[in-house]
Amino acid sequence: MTEHGVRDKVVVITGSGQGLGRGMALHLGKNGASIVVAEWKPEKMASTVAELEALGVPVLGVPTNVFEKDSIDAMIAATVEQFGRVDGLVNNAQTFRPNAPMAEVSGDDFDTFYASGVKGSLWAMQAAYPHMKGQGWGRIVNFASSMGMVGFQGFGAYNASKEAIRAISRTAAKEWGADGIVVNVICPGGGPRAQAAVARGDEAALEFSKSKPIPRVGDAEDDIAPVALFLCSDACRWITGQTFLVDGGGLLFA
Ligand SMILES: NC(=O)c1ccc[n+]([C@@H]2O[C@H](COP(=O)([O-])OP(=O)(O)OC[C@H]3O[C@@H](n4cnc5c(N)ncnc54)[C@H](O)[C@@H]3O)[C@@H](O)[C@H]2O)c1
Repeated sequence: MTEHGVRDKVVVITGSGQGLGRGMALHLGKNGASIVVAEWKPEKMASTVAELEALGVPVLGVPTNVFEKDSIDAMIAATVEQFGRVDGLVNNAQTFRPNAPMAEVSGDDFDTFYASGVKGSLWAMQAAYPHMKGQGWGRIVNFASSMGMVGFQGFGAYNASKEAIRAISRTAAKEWGADGIVVNVICPGGGPRAQAAVARGDEAALEFSKSKPIPRVGDAEDDIAPVALFLCSDACRWITGQTFLVDGGGLLFA
């Protein structure tokens, strides 16, 4: 029978020093994957690495800035040097900046979201591709947002970058399917920041969480990471180019 989990898979997760990336690193690591923590903040990287080491998970921390192609190339090279392969790539990192209404979106806003989110995902996919192709097996998970899908007001530059990430994911899915590589997208909702806001009684956060069909805040490790695990596993062998809304049904009420 085919092994349908991520046991012994080598999975790179960008931006895994905190938030959803950290949750996915812990969940996939607990389920047998070797994890590469690719993160630009050294103290955050060290923190997730220490958590994984304490669990006995094979882990490599690589300081990585997804703005820089060279940094991403070096991270994938370090992954292959350490573990001999790269099976899964989760492009979760993106650099945020305050959003603005469309009338005020600046070139800097666009450049920041595009360079870290769209180009960062593209450079990482390109760096991993020859290794995955050589293995005849690869799983790529990119991170977009339902805010982009519905054109959420006040977030034009972010929304544009997230929809571009979905676009390159579909094209890579078409070009690389014959190589044994599937490429899918998660639009998540939840994580530690929203959990903390609800915990401190933030009215808007409470109202938003209760408005969902599943009326609570999603947990990075227990609610979102299991979908990433599936998308990085052999069970996800007949799905590619698709977007998964992992948000408690939130978009139904958008
Ligand atoms: N949390 C949500 O509800 C939500 C909703 C929709 C989409 N998303 C997407 O999910 C992903 C993770 O979101 P999150 O809430 O966990 O974010 P977060 O801000 O909590 O964590 C992002 C992580 O990425 C790292 N990072 C940022 N810029 C980087 C760079 N240039 N190079 C390397 N690392 C970098 C940060 O240091 C941090 O550890 C993002 O792509 C985000 O747009 C999140």
